[in-house]
Amino acid sequence: MGAMIKNIGIVGAGQMGCGIAHVAALAGYKVHIYDLSPERVETGLATINGNLARQVSSGKMSDEDRKKALALIKGSSDINDLSDADLVIEAATEDETVKRKIYGQVCSVLKPEAILATNTSSLSITRLASATDRPERFMGIHFMNPVPVMKLVELVRGIATEEGTFAAAKEFVAKLDKTVTVAEDFPAFIVNRILLPMINEAIYTLYEGVGSVEAIDTAMKLGANHPMGPLQLADFIGLDTCLSIMQVLHDGLADSKYRPCPLLVKYVEAGWLGRKSGRGFYDYRGEIPVPTR
Ligand SMILES: NC(=O)c1ccc[n+]([C@@H]2O[C@H](COP(=O)([O-])OP(=O)(O)OC[C@H]3O[C@@H](n4cnc5c(N)ncnc54)[C@H](O)[C@@H]3O)[C@@H](O)[C@H]2O)c1
Repeated sequence: MGAMIKNIGIVGAGQMGCGIAHVAALAGYKVHIYDLSPERVETGLATINGNLARQVSSGKMSDEDRKKALALIKGSSDINDLSDADLVIEAATEDETVKRKIYGQVCSVLKPEAILATNTSSLSITRLASATDRPERFMGIHFMNPVPVMKLVELVRGIATEEGTFAAAKEFVAKLDKTVTVAEDFPAFIVNRILLPMINEAIYTLYEGVGSVEAIDTAMKLGANHPMGPLQLADFIGLDTCLSIMQVLHDGLADSKYRPCPLLVKYVEAGWLGRKSGRGFYDYRGEIPVPTR
């Protein structure tokens, strides 16, 4: 069944959608990225180009490969352009209402046999599947950020996901040279179930004045051997995404230990969403990131 997948559709030209397009094109798939916003599509394609060029200059691939990959990627703000896709991966904003609306639109243009997958970090696959016309051909394919660098992909079945769908997804991920881990459909799956409460705790540590941004990140980098401090990592993921994952854990597991830190809420309310908006726990507008607290 996996052999049937040739054309990949992607919904959302954000950091994840572009990363997935990048690795899929390098593996030889034809890719179409769709986003609501034509500007996001344009910026997204430029980002992919820049990231591929960086891989060429660091000797990770040839310029020939870059050109070949780039030629396989198209983008538009017309959802009808996804009609050729054998597999569509939705990587739009982490908001259930947004995703449900997208499924309604996408399903009406998809081939009946096409597989629809979501890159959601935390939402219930079974519940999202119920907003589609194909729960048996729906599942979670959860990439990590930045997609070209991170080796892991979590695969998550919904209650109705058919074995053929799962097998096709597994084969697709193997072609991208990534390693699969299988998670059951519970809030935030495996990686984020463990990672986000750690990040949220780091924000509480800042909120309660136990340490400054710099102290907390240095402590975890040098004291726990993490490659990035938790606050730097939160900025990298996007503070809006971090908050919505904590809300999903809090609502879905009904345990107060998942209560989102009020300081995280405040940053999101301020529009300080981390690297993507220029400011979060660090200010990225100058030459080097400066802690905001
Ligand atoms: N950021 C991470 O570290 C990370 C890691 C793994 C998974 N994810 C998941 O990937 C998804 C995308 O995250 P991101 O970080 O790329 O977000 P992002 O904010 O960078 O990009 C989201 C994109 O979705 C587009 N969009 C919004 N509504 C849309 C609609 N109705 N139709 C089409 N496009 C629409 C936006 O214009 C934007 O370009 C989320 O589900 C998130 O949970 C994120």
